[in-house]
Amino acid sequence: MKDRIISNEIKADDIDNEENIRPQSLDEYVGQSEVKENLRIFIEAAKMRNEPLDHVLLYGPPGLGKTTLAHIIANELESNIKCASGPAIEKSGDLAAILSTLEPGDVLFIDEIHRLPKYIEEMLYSAMEDFELDIVVGSDQSSRSIKIDLPPFTLVGATTRAGDIAAPLRDRFGIVNKLEFYTNEELQGIIKRTSRVLDMPIDDDAAEELAKRSRRTPRIANRLFKRVRDFASVLGDGIIDLKIAKQALDRLKVDKYGLDSIDIEYLSALIDKFNGGPVGVETIASAIGEEISTLEDVVEPYLMQEGFIKRTPRGRMVTDKAYDHLNNNDDRLF
Ligand SMILES: Nc1ncnc2c1ncn2[C@@H]1O[C@H](COP(=O)(O)OP(=O)(O)OP(=O)(O)O)[C@@H](O)[C@H]1O
Ligand SMILES: [Mg+2]
Repeated sequence: MKDRIISNEIKADDIDNEENIRPQSLDEYVGQSEVKENLRIFIEAAKMRNEPLDHVLLYGPPGLGKTTLAHIIANELESNIKCASGPAIEKSGDLAAILSTLEPGDVLFIDEIHRLPKYIEEMLYSAMEDFELDIVVGSDQSSRSIKIDLPPFTLVGATTRAGDIAAPLRDRFGIVNKLEFYTNEELQGIIKRTSRVLDMPIDDDAAEELAKRSRRTPRIANRLFKRVRDFASVLGDGIIDLKIAKQALDRLKVDKYGLDSIDIEYLSALIDKFNGGPVGVETIASAIGEEISTLEDVVEPYLMQEGFIKRTPRGRMVTDKAYDHLNNNDDRLF
């Protein structure tokens, strides 16, 4: 995907100061109150019983705080966290190597868990259920299966695509949480916090404007904050005010709903080339030269959430809101 504010990929910018910006405890974690309160109770109960926390599955669009929450769960459990990623675990030996480093009560975080190879996923079943690992050693005639005992641990899995997780794996997670898009107030809270951490003050008006254009997503809020901070350092007087914020956001081509050029291309293609739909996502992807997965994971969830498109059995359709927004080119930005 091209370099865009809404891009799914982690950028150098995101990593800069990441440890400081990322909340470390449930109290610091803004929003997602239901998920947070449930986790608080389950964690407390697990600690009281001196048992590992049940396995946790976190799902939702990119940048809403899954990885952050996985680290917080480990912090709150006062446990170590080991991190792995679905596509990086290719061989049974890879999984065995990771599992054999676990100590009792540890958290194993597997990001993009929907991308685990099928047979690795199957190996996980007994690891999750009985804390046992069955592996086959040797080859052909001399091959045999050995059982390795594992310490009790908590698997935290994260995915942007819950639908791609096979039912047997999904069923082995005792705690399944969907992360929701954030409200403007919550995003303002996150922006204020980042402003304190990075020691660059921001006006309330400016924080509100940034929040409105952050696609309800903390990662984007922090990204916009950092870009706007650059403008304020060079053009402003050490504080981000509304004028600087708007100027910067316009230069970044993020409009008043947080839509950037890829969203606009998507909506324009639907309207101009396909009469507003319904049309399949594959067709839209090839019309605008984007990957289907980018559209499905990054672009569409927000457009749908904000009511710019709707999903029908025959494909995607634009709504009146999208027509109005695109027709009002003059005041699209403000
Ligand atoms: N609830 C929150 N409160 C404060 N900051 C948050 C919150 N959630 C996320 N963030 C910030 O947003 C950034 C992105 O979050 P994170 O990396 O956890 O998202 P993710 O859901 O794992 O995304 P991906 O699907 O791309 O892996 C984090 O660096 C963190 O600073
Ligand atoms: Mg993540």
